[in-house]
Amino acid sequence: MRPLVGSLLVRDIALLVTNQLELGSGALGVLRDVDLVIENGTVAWIGGAGGSPAADEVLDAAGRCVVPGFVDSHTHLVFAGDRVEEFTARMAGTRYDAGGISATVAATRSASQGALMNTAARLAREAQSQGTTTLETKSGYGLTVEDESRCLDVAATVAEEVTYLGAHVVAPEYRGRQDEYVDLVSGPMLEACAPKAQWCDVFCEKGAFGAEQAREILEAARAHGLGLRVHANQLTHGRGVQLAVEMDAASADHCTHLDEADVDALSGSNTVATLLPGAEFSTRSPYPDARRLLDSGVTVALATDCNPGTSYTTSMPFVIALAVREMRMTPDEALVASTLGGARALRRDDIGALGPGSRGDLVVLNAPTPAHLAYRPGVGLVATVVRAGRLLA
Ligand code: NIG
Ligand code: FE
Repeated sequence: MRPLVGSLLVRDIALLVTNQLELGSGALGVLRDVDLVIENGTVAWIGGAGGSPAADEVLDAAGRCVVPGFVDSHTHLVFAGDRVEEFTARMAGTRYDAGGISATVAATRSASQGALMNTAARLAREAQSQGTTTLETKSGYGLTVEDESRCLDVAATVAEEVTYLGAHVVAPEYRGRQDEYVDLVSGPMLEACAPKAQWCDVFCEKGAFGAEQAREILEAARAHGLGLRVHANQLTHGRGVQLAVEMDAASADHCTHLDEADVDALSGSNTVATLLPGAEFSTRSPYPDARRLLDSGVTVALATDCNPGTSYTTSMPFVIALAVREMRMTPDEALVASTLGGARALRRDDIGALGPGSRGDLVVLNAPTPAHLAYRPGVGLVATVVRAGRLLA
């Protein structure tokens, strides 16, 4: 991404969420009635109206509220086809068991690179128009050396954080030969994919990969210089969260089925609990216990999990509304989890906040306060999106 070379003045911000407690008041570090200047992609100045240095371009916030750009730290945007029939059947009572992944794998394998790029780009544009300024996305619907590798090429065209998920499920042609597939994922497939990704993820779940298989894959990935993430404890209680913490993974994602020991492990760790309530919404499943995590001091992120099976949404505002209504997060907690929490889940300190030195990623909301994101669900409140000082939408 090219940052803006030059400067942008955002004027007449009635309420600015900085996410820096030393800069402003309350849990969001709020400043009122300020202007903000981004220089060469980075926030350079925040201060009272009228006092700013001169800038090349001006964006008038016109007395509205400005928040940091959303950090969607967990998506699966590289796939072909959809699974609307599976969704429809689920709404009529069929349970989700991850079996549909193989339908998307077949469609993805037979799709052209151009088709995969078009879908991923369309979804990334959707996300951006709803305020997402940083995206993570994964492979995981290719499951051969060649298909995982080309899915990562597509991922890199739309996301700045790219994750290798060869261990999404065992490839259909390896059914009954699980261990051979683990050898492939942690051997030749990793060799081909590691140079194209920053992260490695494993779906640690009954029916996907057991904790020891996941450990083997993650250890190999770490030896290839990749950071670690785990799809953990999504459908059943298992050892995924404990494994993520033991291996110092940047995040344990889903965290839907946790016991006391899991919460304790997360609370003393550098592993972020990334909650994906779009998946519980679209599979009609019980939501994770966000309150228990937050009240135990765990760092929580919110992300969309956008994928054709469990959560076909790119909307961080929708996820915020779910988090507040269904998981009892306060509007402030949900906003922090969608910005700073996502940044932590990606181990980034340049995004997720708006103080001097932060990347100039912001959203102007058609609302007086950010609580309106949950208060007015389904309403497009995103007026303007700026990434690295560049006006996007
Ligand atoms: O995060 N849990 C594994 N992967 C996806 C769902 C994949 C699918 O059903 O296509 C998830 O929910
Ligand atoms: Fe996922």
